[in-house]
Amino acid sequence: MKELEHIAIILDGNGRWAKKRGLPRKAGHIEGAKTLEKICRAAYKRGIKYLTVYAFSTENWNRPEDEVSAIMKLFGTYLDKCIKDSKKDNMVVRMIGDRERLSDTLKDKVKELEDVSKDNTGLNLTIAINYGGRAEILNSFKEIYKKISDGALAVDEITEDVISENLYTKDIPDPDLILRTSGEMRLSNFLLWQAAYSEFLFVDCAWPDFDENELDKAIEEYNKRDRRFGAIKEDK
Ligand code: IPE
Ligand code: IPE
Ligand code: MG
Repeated sequence: MKELEHIAIILDGNGRWAKKRGLPRKAGHIEGAKTLEKICRAAYKRGIKYLTVYAFSTENWNRPEDEVSAIMKLFGTYLDKCIKDSKKDNMVVRMIGDRERLSDTLKDKVKELEDVSKDNTGLNLTIAINYGGRAEILNSFKEIYKKISDGALAVDEITEDVISENLYTKDIPDPDLILRTSGEMRLSNFLLWQAAYSEFLFVDCAWPDFDENELDKAIEEYNKRDRRFGAIKEDK
């Protein structure tokens, strides 16, 4: 059994959670942000070293303007809180995704948080914002092409590791477990390259309702899985 070092979560179901309660979708996102804070603490307590969360996809810009701006505003508030509490939380926070489309204010906050948290020693939290797996792979190809044009790399030297090293996730291991809340069974363009040998778990619970008990159930389920990575186990 491989140790559960990295959980990646597709935070889904905020809108449905709110609708069920007669609230605007925004209320679901606000509640979802609170859940994220709790789950970061809970995951670290359980020995998880990396937590990656899918918070906004490259396709989510297609949502109504008021929802997109509410999510961006909430992201700003969340970043402010993380900057303020960086010492106490002890998390190393990174953002993956294309930051170009973010406002200058958000870009600055992301950079500030990455700077103030980089020497922390606790949970590695990676937030995927304006993230798309295909866009990430495309970007990696462009980076590699630039290195080839500059003479820093030869075509024959392109390996799987070279592709990985040019992804946004270059500093973090591939996820052991990819978990999606709220019942949908798809990746929706999340970590396409990195998911090659991840275990998948889909739970019905909406993200705002996800709690320590749900996390324990997910870890228990992961521990039952038999990860073979294409090999045959002697004892099977
Ligand atoms: C996840 O919740 C958060 C984002 C994608 C930004 P949703 O907003 O997708 O919630 P549902 O799936 O509509 O319930
Ligand atoms: C995936 O959720 C993206 C995030 C959770 C950020 P969506 O709700 O956008 O995905 P679909 O539309 O159900 O595939
Ligand atoms: Mg959704």
